Amino acid sequence: MTNLHQRQQQQQQQQLLQPPDPSPPSPRSPTAAALFNRTTLLILLTLLIILGVLFPYMGNPSNVFSSFSRGVPDSRWREYTLSEAAAFVEKNGTVIVCAVSQPYLPFLNNWLISVARRGHHQKVLVIAEDYATLYRVNRKWPGHAVLVPPAPDAQTAHKFGSQGFFNFTSRRPRHLLNILELGYNVMYNDVDMVWAADPFPYFKGNHDVYFTDDMAAVKPLDHPHDLPPPGKKGRTYICSCMIFLRPTDQAKLVMKKWIEELQDQPWSKMKKANDQPAFNWALNKTADQVDLYLLPQVAFPSGGLYFKNQTWVEETKGMHVIIHNNYITGFEKKIKRFRESGLWLIDDYINESPLGRL
Ligand SMILES: *[C@@H]1O[C@H](CO)[C@@H](O)[C@H](O)[C@H]1NC(C)=O
Ligand SMILES: *[C@@H]1O[C@H](CO)[C@@H](O)[C@H](O)[C@H]1NC(C)=O
Ligand SMILES: *[C@@H]1O[C@H](CO)[C@@H](O)[C@H](O)[C@H]1NC(C)=O
Ligand SMILES: *[C@@H]1O[C@H](CO)[C@@H](O)[C@H](O)[C@H]1NC(C)=O
Repeated sequence: MTNLHQRQQQQQQQQLLQPPDPSPPSPRSPTAAALFNRTTLLILLTLLIILGVLFPYMGNPSNVFSSFSRGVPDSRWREYTLSEAAAFVEKNGTVIVCAVSQPYLPFLNNWLISVARRGHHQKVLVIAEDYATLYRVNRKWPGHAVLVPPAPDAQTAHKFGSQGFFNFTSRRPRHLLNILELGYNVMYNDVDMVWAADPFPYFKGNHDVYFTDDMAAVKPLDHPHDLPPPGKKGRTYICSCMIFLRPTDQAKLVMKKWIEELQDQPWSKMKKANDQPAFNWALNKTADQVDLYLLPQVAFPSGGLYFKNQTWVEETKGMHVIIHNNYITGFEKKIKRFRESGLWLIDDYINESPLGRL
């Protein structure tokens, strides 16, 4: 056996050492092979040159992708349902949602960069509140935007305090309830926010609803995590801007109550309400049935604290998780404030956004 094996090896080695037989004219004759090699080389060289010339002009791969998908009619997104979209983006049973209309796209992009830095962007579902937003987001980032019909009137939805704004924000508890009904954990974020760290480790325990206080007064680091006592208007000032919900009957109950409260106290010229008081009344009225959890102020400060108390910001450096640019109205003012704090990321880091330049 050993001998046979050795012989075979020797034969193989001899074959390798022998020069190729020049005589038989076959397709594999050395001249043909040489010719073939030269042609291959030429083709390869040409390809390399073409690629070398073209690549710098082709930009990033997403441009290539969008040019391929240009043939697909946008109208397919018209039929895209919330349940399809949630199933597409969910990871580990969790979906991160925001609700956005066209004027908010720069904020969406800015927020997304900060979410992507924490590695959670794949879970993001943009609820588009107009068709232009639906198509623009999905063209750049297919599958990550959905529109829940009917689309609100895009013209009137933007001014804080207006009836249009009220109608627009009133859709929020319905969106959240719909996603809970599908069985996912859901994190809601306004897009005038920036993640300074990963918020998920803060959703500890098995509470139904996690939220943040919108007050500006400094609390002790070890403040309780219960619903705080009501303030001057007889209700709390919990922010409807950042909510984490588990898909429990209790969390669904809070959303249903929120919807009811919005219907019971519709917008009026006198009150110029938004959706936040209704959320607070819903928490107040369900508090005895639901496991509520107030997140730490130091990690989730309101804009009234973060942007107005430099002493506090210095004192608590490294402990902030989500920065909310509220306590100020108007797009330009918000952008200016983000810029001054180094949080307007789209100026320098637009390539980190899954949407790229919009
Ligand atoms: C899903 O959960 C597992 C285990 O907890 C974790 O390791 C993983 O990073 C999570 N994936 C995402 C996308 O969050
Ligand atoms: C807001 O919603 C109400 C009730 O659905 C409707 O009557 C009103 O026209 C809407 N207003 C605006 C400005 O969208
Ligand atoms: C709900 O609000 C009422 C009126 O302000 C207050 O008396 C009550 O203590 C609140 N309940 C909870 C659980 O905060
Ligand atoms: C600002 O923060 C400091 C430090 O936490 C605190 O002592 C002070 O009361 C705060 N100022 C205001 C106006 O809340």
